[in-house]
Amino acid sequence: MNVLKTIASRFAKALEAIGVEPEQYLDQIRPSQDPKFGDFQANCAMPLGKKLGKAPRDVAAEIVSNLDCSDFLEEPEIAGPGFINLRVKTDWLASLVQREANDQRLGVDKVEKPRKYVLDYSAPNVAKPLHVGHIRSTMIGNSLSRLLRFLGHDVVSDNHLGDWGTQFGMILYGYRNFLDEKAYQESPVEELARLYRLTRQLVEYRAAKSGIEDLRAKVDEASRALEAQKSARADAKAKDDAEKTKESKDALKKANKEFDRLAKALEAAREKLDGASSKIEAVESNPDLAKLAEGRETIGVDVLNETSKLHHGDAENLALWRRFMPQCLAEVDKIYDRLDVKFDETLGESFYNDRLAPLVERLKAAGIARETEGAIGIFFEGRDVPMLIQKSDGAFLYATTDLATLEYRRDRFRPDAILYVVDFRQSQHFEQLFEAAKFLDMGDVELVHVKFGTVLGDDGKPFKTRAGDVVGLKSLLDEAERRAAVIVEANDEARAPEDKFPEEEKRETARRVGLGALVYADLSQNRESDYVFSYDKMLAMNGNTATYMQYAYARVRSIFARGGIDAEKLRREFADGSRTLALGTPEERALAFELTNFQVALETVAKDYRPNWLTAYLYVLANKYSAFFEKCPVLKADDENVKASRLLLCDLTARTIAKGLELLGIQTVERM
Ligand code: ARG
Repeated sequence: MNVLKTIASRFAKALEAIGVEPEQYLDQIRPSQDPKFGDFQANCAMPLGKKLGKAPRDVAAEIVSNLDCSDFLEEPEIAGPGFINLRVKTDWLASLVQREANDQRLGVDKVEKPRKYVLDYSAPNVAKPLHVGHIRSTMIGNSLSRLLRFLGHDVVSDNHLGDWGTQFGMILYGYRNFLDEKAYQESPVEELARLYRLTRQLVEYRAAKSGIEDLRAKVDEASRALEAQKSARADAKAKDDAEKTKESKDALKKANKEFDRLAKALEAAREKLDGASSKIEAVESNPDLAKLAEGRETIGVDVLNETSKLHHGDAENLALWRRFMPQCLAEVDKIYDRLDVKFDETLGESFYNDRLAPLVERLKAAGIARETEGAIGIFFEGRDVPMLIQKSDGAFLYATTDLATLEYRRDRFRPDAILYVVDFRQSQHFEQLFEAAKFLDMGDVELVHVKFGTVLGDDGKPFKTRAGDVVGLKSLLDEAERRAAVIVEANDEARAPEDKFPEEEKRETARRVGLGALVYADLSQNRESDYVFSYDKMLAMNGNTATYMQYAYARVRSIFARGGIDAEKLRREFADGSRTLALGTPEERALAFELTNFQVALETVAKDYRPNWLTAYLYVLANKYSAFFEKCPVLKADDENVKASRLLLCDLTARTIAKGLELLGIQTVERM
């Protein structure tokens, strides 16, 4: 149950009784920061006092005298300028915890109004191996999918695979020109990935070659502009030294600002030039590559042609594509299996191919799209760039497919909301898409770009391998498991011979701990920020990590194992009235109270699709549990009812942690 919501609804009545429209004041009832002030605090008397022209303390007294909460709250206290401090009655709290402990759903209610969600996440381009960035979309989406379902919503997860884009042109070209047949027989996906990388490198090389003169000229121009501004700045400085007027100061400020802007522009131009130079250098310094690049002046266009042929149903390219696809998919599925990620639908870009041409025709006929420099685009009021849906060579774009996908989802799933869990760098695409959706008769379906930031290395730059490549997701998972295995092994060595884990359990523990750490580290970040990747931090036994949560869970399980406690029976004793939960110490009460906040945490995640609200909750819960565990002996408690009560708290804590982790896509272990 959501205690806060119950309080808010009682407050609503009290506010109405004193003639106030409650809506905007209910947000001001919040959990207290400090238990000294009770469990919740209502701060609405202050703004109301201002509005009604009364002393806030008097308003608070009026609210309290109309508040009907005595069934579960102690008499409210008015403090300071007019805070209303609220404290849940401890026996009511105890009976709530008893009920939650006897509920499969741990007391979490299903939503009153379920919504239909389509969740678009993971969606990798399958022609290349998954990389570190894919953990974000995949696991944020996976956790939202689990959590929304648990709250009672209707969810369709749809993996919008990139199975049709220019990358396939690269592979087709590579396959025709550079195939190593033997390598392909041995490991098709690795060979396809190599062909992809090689072709792309040569395409980029050619593009760099033909663009480098231009880039040089731009650097020259930018550095001339900067030189000129340097002297303009010196003049402004001299003038200001002599005059010291407001005008001269402003002029100097402006000159400085312009200098900084030009300095940045020069730096950016240099970076582009350096990028192109190093692409050229990489090929020309390698005789094999240089040879392959020879005579391929038109490789860029040739690759585009391969894609275009595929899209227009060329029999040979289509046959090759059909041959590659299962291999690419098998590779992606291996990762999903490891991470226990599932989809209800996998409708990749290729699925929409036949719908693109008719869609563009319809949009043109309806006057929604029109020609622009030979291409077709949708124009929006107040935006200078149109959304292109067909290029001048006839090719369709990423946006075209997304529009077709929108229509398809609208008709097939009739959703209330579609969530796109995609990198923030695609923000502009989604802004345009959502704008364009207004022309599509989408009803009032809510479209949300659930965006996320970048995974960074120690140097604060996007996480790369030492050789400078993007980090493959597979190697990331392997390494996390490997490091966890080292820890598991060390723990095992310290164990008495009769307690040692069998090999299989060690392996499975390392797998769950390693992958859990990785996933939790990702989900515990505010998704919109970038974060620095660190194996050591994510596997730490203390702190906001999966390892800490898994450890807290295992600790409870070991208490039950050691005490030979039957958890089912224990719960029943509290359900059938043969026992009453005792909350005799502040630590027990604080833990019990925190346990009742689980639903609030889940609802907070669902509000703006941020799993880090759940990890934050689990962390607070685990800390309250630690404080309780330190102060309150469990198996050694001297009173039978106190012992049973503490065991019940342990049991519900462990189940809440396990459920929370499960909703994040993380497994627990029985011992660690
Ligand atoms: N395949 C795309 C990429 O890797 C992501 C697709 C996201 N979903 C969508 N409907 N656009 O960048």
